[in-house]
Amino acid sequence: MWSAALFLKNPINPATWEPPLSSFEKYDETSHHYDTTRQAVGSEIILGCLAGHEKPLSELRVLDAGCGTGAYSAALVDRVAHIDALDLSQGMLAQARAKLDAQARAGRIGFHQGSITELPFDNGAFDAVSINQVVHHLGDAGENFVRLRQVIGEFARVLRPGGILVMNHCSQEQLRDAYWYYRLTPNAYGEVRRNFAPLEALRGFLEDAGFAPRGSFVPVDAICQGAAYSDGRGPLDKAWRDGDSFWALVEAQELAAALDRVRALDDAGNLDAFVAEHDARRPSIGQITFVCAARSG
Ligand SMILES: C[S@@+](CC[C@H](N)C(=O)[O-])C[C@H]1O[C@@H](n2cnc3c(N)ncnc32)[C@H](O)[C@@H]1O
Repeated sequence: MWSAALFLKNPINPATWEPPLSSFEKYDETSHHYDTTRQAVGSEIILGCLAGHEKPLSELRVLDAGCGTGAYSAALVDRVAHIDALDLSQGMLAQARAKLDAQARAGRIGFHQGSITELPFDNGAFDAVSINQVVHHLGDAGENFVRLRQVIGEFARVLRPGGILVMNHCSQEQLRDAYWYYRLTPNAYGEVRRNFAPLEALRGFLEDAGFAPRGSFVPVDAICQGAAYSDGRGPLDKAWRDGDSFWALVEAQELAAALDRVRALDDAGNLDAFVAEHDARRPSIGQITFVCAARSG
């Protein structure tokens, strides 16, 4: 059984490391609830970045790396030539296959179980790579993001020269001020911030791997969990919590205390005010950032 606590106390030997589904989330289990609250927000930004390729959008072969339940693939599949959707979790892939069955039968999308750290694709197989909210699961924050750099190297390998990479990530500021419920659980909040490479570091890793920057874009009005996000009582519901892997970082004692706090705020009539106070900056800073880059060469 993998847990955040176990991971943090046992440094990994890179020579023997095998990718877990996530360094903290159990995606085979949460895949059943994942689409209840999660949405493919910002897919128009991905399309805008891909449109910067010298080839027409409709001719691009795209890799959806860490595709999860296929929400982003579904948003892109009718606009590009072909998608290869890859994920480590069988549960997430099963949801993606069910969602995109018609497109798979039409030869527009293929599914692959595998790790983004060792992509099962030939050099130069793709015109573009889209990766959405995945790399914070690599569990390498304590090792200067060694696996994130490996993954970026893999993207450079499978992209043709001029190929476009779009990484959907969170800035440290967004983690601090754009997820109101993180304030209920200070320990897990510290962990999630540690797991996300700061944007400046991410841009440096991209440059080191031969990518040229094409800009960073924030869909300020997009909310990853849609309307469910603002529900102050949401944390009381496991299906609601399964929409954000953050909750897998919350240990049992901290979770119990957080849920008690939600109930107490609710009983006192202060829950909506708590949500509003800790969500005040989100509408101007957004929850996610798309970092776009082009493979040089
Ligand atoms: C937060 S979910 C995002 C899913 C999807 N990209 C989306 O935005 O809807 C993270 C996904 O990354 C996958 N994942 C984590 N580590 C991975 C790895 N090393 N290789 C491939 N997929 C991985 C998980 O199984 C999960 O489906």
